[in-house]
Amino acid sequence: MTTFIDPSREIGRIDPKLHGQFIEFLGECIDEGLWVGEDSPIENEHGYRKATLDALRALEPPLLRWPGGCYADTYHWRDGVGPRTERKTTFNENFATYELDDHSFGTDEFLRLCEMLGAEPWININMLSGTVAEMKEWMEYCNREQPTDVALERARNGHEAPYGVKYWGIGNEVWAGGGTMTPSTYMDEYRRFASAMPKFTTDVFAPSPMYAIACGPDGNKPREREAWTQDFFRALAEYRQPPSNGYDLHFYNWNVDNDADTPTEFDEDGWNTVIDGCLELEDILRDQWRLMQDGLALIHEPEVAMDTKLEHVDLIIGEWGNWHKTAFFARPALRQQVTMRDAVTTALTLDLLQRNCDKVSMACNAQTINVLNSLVLTEGEATILTPNYDVFMMYKAHRDAVALDVPRQDAADESVYTFASKSQDGKELLVDLTNAHMNDAAEITVVIPAVARVEEATVLAAADPHDCNTAEQTDLIRARTVPVADMVKATAAGSGTELVVSLAPASVNTLRIALD
Ligand code: AHR
Repeated sequence: MTTFIDPSREIGRIDPKLHGQFIEFLGECIDEGLWVGEDSPIENEHGYRKATLDALRALEPPLLRWPGGCYADTYHWRDGVGPRTERKTTFNENFATYELDDHSFGTDEFLRLCEMLGAEPWININMLSGTVAEMKEWMEYCNREQPTDVALERARNGHEAPYGVKYWGIGNEVWAGGGTMTPSTYMDEYRRFASAMPKFTTDVFAPSPMYAIACGPDGNKPREREAWTQDFFRALAEYRQPPSNGYDLHFYNWNVDNDADTPTEFDEDGWNTVIDGCLELEDILRDQWRLMQDGLALIHEPEVAMDTKLEHVDLIIGEWGNWHKTAFFARPALRQQVTMRDAVTTALTLDLLQRNCDKVSMACNAQTINVLNSLVLTEGEATILTPNYDVFMMYKAHRDAVALDVPRQDAADESVYTFASKSQDGKELLVDLTNAHMNDAAEITVVIPAVARVEEATVLAAADPHDCNTAEQTDLIRARTVPVADMVKATAAGSGTELVVSLAPASVNTLRIALD
């Protein structure tokens, strides 16, 4: 097969926040996976598990969402601030976690982590069992510059300067565990919470730095997701609009129909089901984006000159990832292993998000550690980086680059998927070539209408598609740079370049290409 990569066919800038991550008090995602406490025998830096922290430092996730998920709707932030010995102990039932919750990782621990990683924090408030006053005080604790009681409390807890948290989720999956609401009951709640958000500006005409994220639909329900978005925006268009900046759709690639299929045991049908499943997100987000534009068009023109009109709401994919059936019965809760099947879908999902960077502005992998589509797994003292971690690392150079319009792969019998971006200075391409066939190697011809030179080739592949990294073999699957000549045969073709690239079965590959 042949793919054409024309550096002049620009889609737009890839917001680094498309590479966001999600951590929740669920299973061992935070407790054990990220936070072990200062007294732990496991090596730690002020309580953060050192090996996880180092891996995240190298990854530099641009966005980190916390504390849930469903957990957010049970979370009272005051339980997790102040001296750790005085914090409450509660019981965590979230997704069958069934553990005591000593709240030693709270708001300050989360926001210091974001500072260490250079990540933008996204905090999801408790809309179900919390109150507007509780939300408001949490925002004040994080962001108030003036010496109010709550700002002084933050200073006493070790952080004098405001954290400047911009992104706030108002409700999580309110169509299910977050309240089983309808768009209209949610809108009634959303209007109250969003309108009560402090503005954190002393210029009455300046826009607030706060960013309100509304709950979008269940991306896995075709009829409901369409109706939800239509009804949500119809309700939003009625009368005046509260602060509304983002709209958060969740999509999981469910693999729950075949009991014999597990994260590490699958046949080719099971492989293909999971690959095809992740690709559905592209049509979903495009449909949703169109519905959002239709909905925004219902908003009336302002009646007076001083009023502004809500013209735009960002589409966000706040949770995405593979969810295999065995995760429901796993201990710790929702833990699943990661093979090249997951790494390939992680690559394809990042590709489709990047390709739609003119429609989606932020997205979070669910979840970073020990839960579902993990980048890091921990087992006692062992910290294991999964092949998903390598995919995110290989894709770092796409952040802030310009996505290119590479014709989309549709043919069912072709298994190689491509995506490309161009650096801001126009001198370099990063090309992703993913061979989504479980067993067959592939060859693809990449045609570039420019003089181009492959500088670096990186391959992520396993000897067996069922392989995974474990405590015994932590680096069984690792991305490696290979001699370019082993993988690519380049020929000049007129004023352009033709690259014939060999791809291992079930592999994620990137080429860094210099343009002359
Ligand atoms: O990621 C696990 C759970 O999936 C989250 O808590 C919830 O938002 C979603 O249903």
